[in-house]
Amino acid sequence: MSFTGKRYDFRDKAADYAELAQALAGLVHGESDFVANAANTSALIFDALPDINWAGFYLLKGGQLVVGPFQGKPACVRIALGKGVCGTAAVERRTLVVPDVEAFPGHIACDAASRSEIVIPLIAGGQLLGVLDIDSPKLARFDEEDARGLERLVEIFLQDVRVEDIG
Ligand code: SME
Repeated sequence: MSFTGKRYDFRDKAADYAELAQALAGLVHGESDFVANAANTSALIFDALPDINWAGFYLLKGGQLVVGPFQGKPACVRIALGKGVCGTAAVERRTLVVPDVEAFPGHIACDAASRSEIVIPLIAGGQLLGVLDIDSPKLARFDEEDARGLERLVEIFLQDVRVEDIG
């Protein structure tokens, strides 16, 4: 397998997310190890999306979100369900687009550079597994098109992955 690390400018978000979805499908094809695919998914997103400073997973373990594979600066390890953007998206089981993290009550600042954030819940067979979290140093970096595009990436990531791998 080789990965070209194509640059996307996201001027046509729908087209670039569609291409990124294909790239991810190729990257995880034939592999079901959860950590391996989560690591490659976060690396693909971090490399491809402009203006982001953190991309990765928090996984539900023992009733808490625990940091998983990611790219970016070291991050808070544990987040309680219902806390921060991640814990809120997890309990509400819906994507949260936060244009200004300072305006989000209870936002947990891991990297002081983060200004906006998007969190997509991981749900497989009705079971909450965790979240995909992406931070940006730019205000209002993410919109509804990012939400749909990233939800599609999460769907591809979850398709064949072994849920039992999450400890
Ligand atoms: N900001 C998140 C915490 C995780 S870091 O951004 C990587 C939150 O409020 O849940």
